[in-house]
Amino acid sequence: MIIVLFGPPGSGKGTQAKALMDKLSVPQLSTGDMLREAISQGKPIGVKAKGLMDMGQLVPDALIIDLIQEKMKAPDCKNGFLLDGFPRTVSQAVALDQMLKKQSRKIDHVISFQVPKDKLVKRLTGRLVCSACGTSYHELTKPVTKQGVCDKCGGKLIKRKDDEANVVEARLDTFQEETMPVEGYYQKQGMLRTIDATGSEREVSDKIMGLLQ
Ligand code: AP5
Repeated sequence: MIIVLFGPPGSGKGTQAKALMDKLSVPQLSTGDMLREAISQGKPIGVKAKGLMDMGQLVPDALIIDLIQEKMKAPDCKNGFLLDGFPRTVSQAVALDQMLKKQSRKIDHVISFQVPKDKLVKRLTGRLVCSACGTSYHELTKPVTKQGVCDKCGGKLIKRKDDEANVVEARLDTFQEETMPVEGYYQKQGMLRTIDATGSEREVSDKIMGLLQ
């Protein structure tokens, strides 16, 4: 099953992708995680991406398309995958359709997460992420048992640089200007399913499973 999880920064795509991975037995392909990994490993794509990410801007389409194309070919993607943070421009959406067509595959579901801006800002500015397993927490609404330590794997919690308030604003603007047209692209094809993603993680997860059945 190939699912696109679409939504603004902080709408819960990563959180839900991690929950769905276990339920559907398909991997999460997060372009943001791939870029952060490339940065930490000092890879050329990471060097090119870092400055843009720190300013809340998008990384050029060509770089992202190369990156995702490689990952989609991996053996663990044979039965499908969950796209988290890709496509983020109409050009990326078109490229994705072309890549899948070459493999005689297609997207099964596009799920758009709806969360009002004030909630997105609160979620992002309070987010803590496990540097080892990637689980997201929140300083106020989803605190960990032991400060600075992931409940799941014991990894160290970090704050993303792009979760600073001024960068969050820039990321939300970038989403409106450059990423929102992707919603229209899928709507025109009759593929878009919209969910209210303001409930608890469990409620949102149940809504998604309801849509998939
Ligand atoms: P990326 O890492 O993809 O960031 P994003 O899309 O901005 O999404 P986030 O990871 O911030 O949010 P999320 O929706 O996953 O929310 P989460 O589940 O963590 O991209 C980073 C950067 O990389 C981009 O700005 C760009 O520069 C570059 N990039 C990446 N992909 C690209 C592409 N395709 N093209 C070009 N550039 C690209 O949850 C957030 C918080 O909310 C957490 O604290 C969580 O605990 C909490 N939360 C989650 N669900 C709930 C809930 N139901 N109720 C209450 N709180 C909740």
